[in-house]
Amino acid sequence: MADAVFRLENSWEPVEGDPCGRFVFTLVNLSDVPQSGFKLAYTSLTRIKDAEEPRCENATFLIRNANFHQYAPPADFILAPGEAWRFTVAPLWRPARHRTDGAKSAYVTLSDGSHHPVSVDDTLLAGRAPEPAPVLMPKGEVDEPFSLLPWPVPAKLEAGESVPVALYPAEGTALADKQAMQSVGALYRRLFQIGHQPFALTPVHAGKAIRFVSDTSLAAEAFQLHFGEQVTLTFSGPAGRQYGLTALAHLLHGARTESQTFRFPAAGTIEDAPRYGWRGCHLDVSRQFYPTADITRLIDIMAWMRLNIFHWHLSDDEAWRLEIKAYPTLTTKGVLRGPDEPMLPQLGNGAEPVGGFYSQDEVKAIVAHAAQLNVEVVPEIDIPGHSTATLVALPELVDGQEAPDSYRSVQGYPNNALNPAIELTYEFLGKVFDEMVELFPSKLIHIGGDEVAANTWMASPLARKRMDEQGIEGTFGLQSYFMKRIQTMLLERGRKLAGWDEVSHGGGVDPDGTLLMAWQKPEVGVELARQGYDVVMTPGQAYYLDMVQDEAFQEPGASWAGTVPPKHTYTYEAVGEFPEDLKPRMRGVQACIWSEHFLNRDYFNHLVFPRLGAIAEAAWTPKDNKDWLRFAAISPLMPKL
Ligand code: ACM
Repeated sequence: MADAVFRLENSWEPVEGDPCGRFVFTLVNLSDVPQSGFKLAYTSLTRIKDAEEPRCENATFLIRNANFHQYAPPADFILAPGEAWRFTVAPLWRPARHRTDGAKSAYVTLSDGSHHPVSVDDTLLAGRAPEPAPVLMPKGEVDEPFSLLPWPVPAKLEAGESVPVALYPAEGTALADKQAMQSVGALYRRLFQIGHQPFALTPVHAGKAIRFVSDTSLAAEAFQLHFGEQVTLTFSGPAGRQYGLTALAHLLHGARTESQTFRFPAAGTIEDAPRYGWRGCHLDVSRQFYPTADITRLIDIMAWMRLNIFHWHLSDDEAWRLEIKAYPTLTTKGVLRGPDEPMLPQLGNGAEPVGGFYSQDEVKAIVAHAAQLNVEVVPEIDIPGHSTATLVALPELVDGQEAPDSYRSVQGYPNNALNPAIELTYEFLGKVFDEMVELFPSKLIHIGGDEVAANTWMASPLARKRMDEQGIEGTFGLQSYFMKRIQTMLLERGRKLAGWDEVSHGGGVDPDGTLLMAWQKPEVGVELARQGYDVVMTPGQAYYLDMVQDEAFQEPGASWAGTVPPKHTYTYEAVGEFPEDLKPRMRGVQACIWSEHFLNRDYFNHLVFPRLGAIAEAAWTPKDNKDWLRFAAISPLMPKL
């Protein structure tokens, strides 16, 4: 790719009397042509407050849409080769707190309408000397020399002197048990391409036999391992068997790769079972697109950590990623972002258009891959809010009489919600659900329900009419009317409703069989349980893996839910928030990977690990068996994307 001929430097600086400060931008012309009559666009999650009079020095503010911004230099300005155009931007919605809070991408549009890439890097903090890199993880320490994550309930083990060359099935092992060994062995090989194979399917010199014992008194996901002359794996179902084999592969991998710290057990017993049935990891594929190979690898990593629910966030304002045969424009118009595309560039897009979606064949392959590893895929389409992409793809779903820009989402999107008073909305969703139930065997379909802005639909004459007819009050009364209809549509298709915590607003839905995710703060989870909903705890303050891990400006990530150091994610006890009588309503815990800030793989890995492993341990290991320094010692052995 040719180098960009423009470079945008960006920094944030404090301003006296305005805690939100301002951006200072400098555009350098690296071409050998003087430039005039051009415009500069950039994307930034720290937005200009365009409802107020913009205070831009040396620039004219043109437009903003969510985090897309565009400016022009002063009239008659000429940017000579090698020279720079410096301008400032205020007022801002909030201060930039971290390096990822400024411009993520930019491009220049020349007077002939052509678009040109601009190189842009992370935001600097003006006037500040470099800070030392924060220490996010301590040096680990183990009391017992075994590498296992999650750590089991009780483990009474004696360390062996040697590591078996490989584990192999004892004489008479059933085909299904051999197939399970092959499956976990292949998982290991995908994750650790130069690791030494854990399992052989025929006896090996200096190996050790595994005897498989079925015991129907164990829970489906529980397993026991007894170490002696042989290894005995006791289980009652495929998941427990897979988890037992995965634990063995962990033990072998640690003993082989860090033999000064970890050993393979010669004797003793592990008895393990998950603490929660819902051990989830969510991924937002709307803000950034992740190709199928990344999705299957994330599912592999989840299986390695014995997580069992992949919550796939398939639609949002920025894109609809699931092929729906009844509505092809969802994945043509509803995914394309670019200067001349149906949607403007956002969150790191520049002059080049971007798209990406999952075909139904790809979805089936991903669901099958996950099922084979005992991971259930719970799909989400986020409605009624977060629907800009849907409305771009299907403009017939808009009330034409509704004033444009009559409300804005917290992310700054105008009029971004499906309208509950338009019958076509339900026809559309019915057809979408019809196709989804064919693709996803999960009993739950997640329908989002989050962040509908306070005055949504209030300027829609159709919504007003429906409210009058039905005696409905306000945005959230109408949201509840919509959600109840959606719940019925799902029940008609044999599915139950999952959603974010705001589904309960304005009267909510029937809690029976409904599962809601408490994300805004932990107390919300308790309140949902009190209202009779089943709850998964995914509070931003502990389990949102896009949150920064340290206050240092140079740490990447979001900070609206605060700073979330790995130690906090590890030690956080979600169930501790619940009074005794409501604890049974807490179904489990979940990591959420929101991708706004994940412009590249290094950022993904820096933010997701080791915190994903911390949540996996929270999903299995009782509070008293958690050990932060042990986790610090074992987590570096975990694979990354
Ligand atoms: C959410 O973070 N809006 C669920």
